[in-house]
Amino acid sequence: MAKQFILDLIKAMTLEEKAAQLTQLSPNYFDEKTSVTLTGPYRNFDLTKEMIENAGSVLGCVDAQTYCKIQDAYLKKNRHHIPLLFMADIIHGMKTIFPIPLAIGGSFDLKLCEESAQIAAKEASVTGLHVTFSPMADLVRDPRWGRVMESPGEDPYLNSEMTRAMVRGYQGKDLKESGRLAACVKHFAAYGAGDGGREYNTVDLSRGMLKEYYLPAYRAAVEEDVALIMTSFNTIERVPSTGNPWLLREVLRKEWGFRGVTISDFNSLDEIINHSIAADSKEAAKKGIVSGLDIEMMSACYVTCLPELVRTGEIKEEWVDEAVLRILELKDRLGLFENPYKDADQSGAERIWLCEKHRKAARKLAGESAVLLKNNSVLPLSKANNLKIGIAGPFAESKQVLGGWAGQGENKDAISLADGIRAVLGNENVVTAMTQELQERLTGFLDVKDETKEAVKALKDCDVILAAVGEHPGDSGEAASKTYLRLSKNQEKLIHELKELSKPVIVIVFAGRPMEIEPILEDCDALIYGWFLGTEMGNALTDLLFGKVNPSGRLSISIPHTVGQIPVYYNYFQTGRPYQGMSPQERFASRYIDCENSPLYPFGYGLSYSNFIYSNLNVCTDSKKRGATASVLVKNDSDTDGTVVVQLYIRDITASVVRPVKELKGFQRIWLTAGEQKEISFEITEEMLKYYNNKEEFIFEAGEFEIMIGDNSEQLLKEKITIL
Ligand code: GLC
Repeated sequence: MAKQFILDLIKAMTLEEKAAQLTQLSPNYFDEKTSVTLTGPYRNFDLTKEMIENAGSVLGCVDAQTYCKIQDAYLKKNRHHIPLLFMADIIHGMKTIFPIPLAIGGSFDLKLCEESAQIAAKEASVTGLHVTFSPMADLVRDPRWGRVMESPGEDPYLNSEMTRAMVRGYQGKDLKESGRLAACVKHFAAYGAGDGGREYNTVDLSRGMLKEYYLPAYRAAVEEDVALIMTSFNTIERVPSTGNPWLLREVLRKEWGFRGVTISDFNSLDEIINHSIAADSKEAAKKGIVSGLDIEMMSACYVTCLPELVRTGEIKEEWVDEAVLRILELKDRLGLFENPYKDADQSGAERIWLCEKHRKAARKLAGESAVLLKNNSVLPLSKANNLKIGIAGPFAESKQVLGGWAGQGENKDAISLADGIRAVLGNENVVTAMTQELQERLTGFLDVKDETKEAVKALKDCDVILAAVGEHPGDSGEAASKTYLRLSKNQEKLIHELKELSKPVIVIVFAGRPMEIEPILEDCDALIYGWFLGTEMGNALTDLLFGKVNPSGRLSISIPHTVGQIPVYYNYFQTGRPYQGMSPQERFASRYIDCENSPLYPFGYGLSYSNFIYSNLNVCTDSKKRGATASVLVKNDSDTDGTVVVQLYIRDITASVVRPVKELKGFQRIWLTAGEQKEISFEITEEMLKYYNNKEEFIFEAGEFEIMIGDNSEQLLKEKITIL
């Protein structure tokens, strides 16, 4: 039941005030002197003073003083004293920046992921922010799409668990508590499935595919009581999400029982005119409200057209009232009617931003997120014998390692790779070369200067060579789709030439997406996929390089051999002519004639300095209920303590519709000391065996299932069971 004071407020509001309450504008509308970086195209909406003075929320990250000033001035003018809501994108940290979400996904560490969101919320809420546009739960399979960096990866289960952890981290139990933010899961729905990986492009998926792969993570957020959900730019079944009643009313509200606020993406309600499902702002406004869209971000269809639409009887006022009610309830849930400034406290920001505790958590998560992909026994390095390291490449000295959407994080606060290593080896034992930094592709930049000759000369006396290469952080994230995923030519050349020194070459790749690393693989003795690891990058990688931390990160997304294989993902459907097990000469099979079907490195893959051996897979079915217990013995067969990520996959062997060849259904991060072995078990429940049929029913079908446990999505022990 809605609170009486909120219902009274709605009764007292005019239609114009209500329409404005549904509108979100950037801070410069409220305070001309405030400038923010806009996250979409700017348009002048010609709003009246009254419209602005009654707008319900603000988009953009500023500081405590500015938020308070805007709130103060607003409350003085707003005749109902309804406070403004402040929202912004705090995606992987506010000031202390954690790894990009794609990297965090690969940590498989839900606890630390939750803690990172909690820290981000703390650091952001002291500025007076109330809502973060995070987590992004979009399932991603196409590394050409720049926004893969913002997602926890290609698997629906991992996505769902990571999304839950983030919502818990931001919101805690009570949004009124200090240090909490309301979370906004996005982009509903299936924004990651755009054709060809091209930004904002068409999505067309069957409902089966949607329900199987793309929707579970948003739903998981709803189950965690996420406060808001943001619609996506794309179409679903030829209807843009922002004006899609099936998605917003049927699936989200009726089926999932979502009671929070829906919000458009930046200008995406207005863009349904470009999509050509609305002729003008009036029709867009109508479609938005009919669909169940509450807040319109950065366009003005609602504020300019809703009052007239109600007056002419084209839409029901109760739809507008419902949307206003949900927004006012969110403001109440955050405690803003009692304290409109919430946690705003500039001195608090200075106290907690980048504090030791936060940096420590960032370093730990960064260490767990980097993925060791290759190691010809050159790692870990030993400091003994006055080890001298040479580091070459655009990320050797660079602090451009925060990754996109880095809140108010600043490069200057980041630890570069060279500085991280200097802290351990001393300045004199670290030599750097060819350090020109990358620039954004959009500026026309193509490559760093070819200084390979100089680099080879400078590093010739070093014992070990690191090549720190990758893509500019601005080349991933929103509006950064790419077709060429190899390293730039001079970076590839650098690695190739460094090899000539006959010293161990360790490559570290910094990127917001899987890149095509096959061409450099042969030239390196070890390769770490370093993503963008955030503020503590240099320290975290140094920990890994010297074995202070044993690598445990896994791939949250497959790395393709070549761009031509995309999309390549582990949980594909079996075809009628599967290629597995056939001779390489077989023509009439589902395959490429010039490349393998499987990726270069599969989902879940990652090496460690320990050697883990899996044995004794044992699956016991339970005759009393539909389910089983699966256990496996995992042994750390090495002299090094380490963490292993044990993964459980299930395949439904025969069903009414084609099922994926395997699906991740559980994982455990287990610490094993040298020589230690442990029995790890997973409970397999009926829920884990169910799937959506073509009538959109979530059903169990009796029959055979294959249970698989192992180190990644390809190296698995397997056992078949029958469950009736
Ligand atoms: C964007 C993004 C979205 C973000 C919003 C607000 O264009 O697509 O993820 O939350 O703007 O900044």
